[in-house]
Amino acid sequence: MSIVTKAVKKVRTVVQTTFRVKRALGFVWESSRGWTVAHVCLLAIQGVLPIVSLVLLRMLVDTVVETVATAGQSDAMPTGLFTVLIAVGVVTLLTGLTRIVGTVVSKEQARRVADHMHDVIQAKAIAVELEYYENAAYHDSLHRAQEEAMFRPGVIVSALSSILQNGISLVGVAWLLLTFQWPVLVILVVALIPSLIVRLVFSEREFLRERSYTEKERSAWYFNWMLVGKESAKEIRVFGLGQTFIRRFRDIRAELRKIRLALDVKGAWYSAFAHISSTVLVFGAYFWVAFSAIAGRVTVGGFVMFYQAFQRGQGFLQGALDGIARLYENNLFLTNLYEFLDIPERPAVVYGLPEKPRPCALIEYENVWFTYPGTSTPILKGVDFTIESGKIAALVGLNGAGKTTVVKLLCRLYEPDQGRILLDGVDIRAIAPADLRRRIGVIFQDYVQYHLTARDNIWFGDVEQSPDTDSIVSAAERAGIDQKIRTFSGEYDTVLGRLFANGHELSTGQWQKLALARAFFRDTGIVVLDEPTSAMDPKSEFELFDGFRRILNDRTALLISHRMSTVRMADTIHAMVDGQIVESGTHDELMRANGVYAHLFEMQARNYREDRVV
Ligand SMILES: Nc1ncnc2c1ncn2[C@@H]1O[C@H](COP(=O)(O)OP(=O)(O)OP(=O)(O)O)[C@@H](O)[C@H]1O
Ligand SMILES: [Mg+2]
Repeated sequence: MSIVTKAVKKVRTVVQTTFRVKRALGFVWESSRGWTVAHVCLLAIQGVLPIVSLVLLRMLVDTVVETVATAGQSDAMPTGLFTVLIAVGVVTLLTGLTRIVGTVVSKEQARRVADHMHDVIQAKAIAVELEYYENAAYHDSLHRAQEEAMFRPGVIVSALSSILQNGISLVGVAWLLLTFQWPVLVILVVALIPSLIVRLVFSEREFLRERSYTEKERSAWYFNWMLVGKESAKEIRVFGLGQTFIRRFRDIRAELRKIRLALDVKGAWYSAFAHISSTVLVFGAYFWVAFSAIAGRVTVGGFVMFYQAFQRGQGFLQGALDGIARLYENNLFLTNLYEFLDIPERPAVVYGLPEKPRPCALIEYENVWFTYPGTSTPILKGVDFTIESGKIAALVGLNGAGKTTVVKLLCRLYEPDQGRILLDGVDIRAIAPADLRRRIGVIFQDYVQYHLTARDNIWFGDVEQSPDTDSIVSAAERAGIDQKIRTFSGEYDTVLGRLFANGHELSTGQWQKLALARAFFRDTGIVVLDEPTSAMDPKSEFELFDGFRRILNDRTALLISHRMSTVRMADTIHAMVDGQIVESGTHDELMRANGVYAHLFEMQARNYREDRVV
């Protein structure tokens, strides 16, 4: 490819990128129509005012010169001069006032755009599949989108505004200059081109550099988050990790700073060169103007206006070109946001209308195989078992056997590689995820502790119900946390956790009970509890499971637990080893079979019974 074709191609991409503003403007328009219209109107006024003021300047000088020439004839101020002076005053006043109003408008607009962009990103974050959260590229993309989205669309607006405003003024100035000395206009334009090119080239380099360092940047933020976050606060202190983490954070930041400084310095060299060349050209133009004046080709007013127009024209042109450069730069960076927003979502394939949900359900796993995305070893290797409708099933097995994975597949957080999961005989892939999830109440091992009120913590189990029903209290009673909540002066409206003012902290076991209450509040046919009592005291656990059947009230339950005492009461127990169900039966049956379950049970029971001598 010849250099010329290459250059033409490059220019074309730059121009295309620069003016690919539709989507960004769409965000701005959606965020605040009224403010956007107001903003545009103000810009148009701000663009026109400088031209009016230049024309008035010429009139003012010429009128003064004329008045001086005819001086002595009268002491009174000529009406012409008076009118011009009034007009100059009005324009000055308007310029100031529009600037003041413009500041308010553009600030509010920027805030609205930022808030709207939060909406857009949050909506996308909950729409993507869970598997994206396990993928570093997704986090890079999310990080970049969050970095850019809040302010870039706003900057695009301000860049466009400055192109519009300066453009209007520039057309005026160009017209004024053309009527005098056209070569000066050419010099003005040529002088600023090198800076524009330098700016565009370095924007692109900066963009590429920032993209390649997202992961590094995130790892720095990871250390920062560890240092300041509550979750890690205890461990950081007792293990004395503070200085180590501070050092790691500092080292990464220093490395990033060094790379950024190197590029900035290089950019500065090029900019300096561009600046020198434009200064030389501009001074050439001044000479030209001076000679024209000496040659008497222009009036004094014309000369003053001309000089002013040239100076200000430089400012306008600089402003417009700067707007173009910013537009290009910000559009480049917005690609990061678009990339995130364009992550595909799972197509909503609905095979048929979901059956009318029954109060409880039969769940069947048929030869289910599953491999986590981005990994190669299957975690489930032909899982085959049935959970009878209205019965309590338990799943036991060593760490990593695949128990939680079985539940994730039931909720369609992932899809099996092979095999099917049936709910009342219907393949769950035929049920829209939202409908399916409405039928399941699940508390995962790593449930969430919402640092909000106790009421919210329970109500989040089913936000379609009213938050002030008795069912909240009843769910808390069933989970054994009601009494504790009532000891707080604010009762159910007490804020929990210590993140916000007046928050009350709960113990781990109490948090767990609250999570259980959330699951019970969700009135679904299926209840899945993954390690629901791992942090509960024996008394609470006994009370919970003693009344468990009554609490379930004929619903189907799947219980995952390492506590054999809990598991024992289930109707059917399934033992899982390395991604397969190896045994199923009641406690007595499995004890008689003397297999995996009996072994696990015996091991735990022996530890409790024997006085072990070490
Ligand atoms: N998101 C994930 N991506 C990749 N591999 C995963 C993921 N989650 C779990 N695994 C792997 O899948 C296996 C089974 O995990 P799972 O959480 O189902 O075990 P589990 O039986 O619930 O164990 P535990 O008793 O410790 O809760 C583990 O070996 C784990 O490394
Ligand atoms: Mg688990």
